[in-house]
Amino acid sequence: MIKIITIIGARPQIIKASAISRAIKNDFNNQITEVIVHTGQHYDQNMSGVFFDELQIPMPHYNLNVGSISHGEQTAKMIIGIEEILLNEKPNYLLVYGDTNSTLAGAIAASKLLIPIVHVEAGLRSYNKTMPEEINRILCDHASTLLFSPTDIGFNNLVKEGFNAKQSNKASASNPYVFISGDVMFDNLLHFNKIAGSQQYLIQKKLEVEPLNYVLATIHRNANTDDTNKLSAIFNAFVEIATKNNIPFVIPLHPRTAKLLASNLHSTVYEKVKKCVLLKIIAPVSYLEMISLQSNSKMIMTDSGGLQKESYFFNKPCIVLRPETEWTELITCGMATIADANEELIINVFEHYLNYKIPQSLQLYGNGNAAQFILAQLIKHN
Ligand code: UD1
Repeated sequence: MIKIITIIGARPQIIKASAISRAIKNDFNNQITEVIVHTGQHYDQNMSGVFFDELQIPMPHYNLNVGSISHGEQTAKMIIGIEEILLNEKPNYLLVYGDTNSTLAGAIAASKLLIPIVHVEAGLRSYNKTMPEEINRILCDHASTLLFSPTDIGFNNLVKEGFNAKQSNKASASNPYVFISGDVMFDNLLHFNKIAGSQQYLIQKKLEVEPLNYVLATIHRNANTDDTNKLSAIFNAFVEIATKNNIPFVIPLHPRTAKLLASNLHSTVYEKVKKCVLLKIIAPVSYLEMISLQSNSKMIMTDSGGLQKESYFFNKPCIVLRPETEWTELITCGMATIADANEELIINVFEHYLNYKIPQSLQLYGNGNAAQFILAQLIKHN
């Protein structure tokens, strides 16, 4: 029996973990056992708890409850907690997702104990080192033994950084293996989309929006939330577009952004936002509510990585509220456009996408079996 320790901490990791946990339960129950460690980076019910219930993820065996502290202290506390668990549990692998502080902490703790690291969502690069996530993902990739990139571009990024495209001998920290696995988020979407259908009615009724006649928007990146000019430009664009086109915006707001709205928006913009009834600012929603909101939206505007891809899964054009993206294939195929926090650009791209002819879908993120592929490789390389 192979034992994996899975580290989760932030909302998207909890969602991604459900694909692997489900595949273990359904297809690898006799070969793999999973111990889940929640770092507690996200702790609100609507940022964490709700996903365990809804996505049927086993409850974490450990919770480190690190909470919201400075990035350095947060990462340090996680390393201490994870190291202790690794020493007790003696797993064959440590599995981490994505690029958060929880990912980095897991990778550091395991690398010191020579426990092979499995990085799911490896190889993504924004080439913007002011993002904490870019540093986290580079450091994690370079400490990992098995690296699973969701895309060809991610795989090529790793090869450019010196990883071997061709594999020989046994995988190890000094002979890491890189794979294109497809995206576990696509696995999840195929699995949960049918269930989410039944939620549509409820959420739309509650929000009083018509299908295909609202914009779904999210903002949580520090680069936007902590910069008064950027945050104001984004919200000004939302008010302008909503008012001019009489189209509502549904904005499930990350707690970081919600806490900063009053202090970080220019006061004139804050007043406009408060008065604009077409901006429906709500608390973060569950995964099923989110995919229901996405599938029924007209368009999506976001600084989240996950939402950019989900827009594509649902054939919705996406305006990226960042200066760059890790998911460049979305730009190339025309389904996403970078507008950063540029008010004029956001408005122009909205108009461009208003009557947009959606290009044919290209299976950019695998075939829905990324989790099975990843687990099969873990068995092979143990
Ligand atoms: C983290 C990740 C980011 C990911 C995002 C997904 C890092 C460096 N960043 O960003 O890559 O896209 O998760 O959501 O790891 N807060 C609450 N309740 C919570 C969680 C957070 O109120 O349950 C508030 C706190 O004020 C906290 C702030 O949000 O200080 C930021 O939380 P943090 O976990 O540091 O980073 P995220 O912005 O969530």
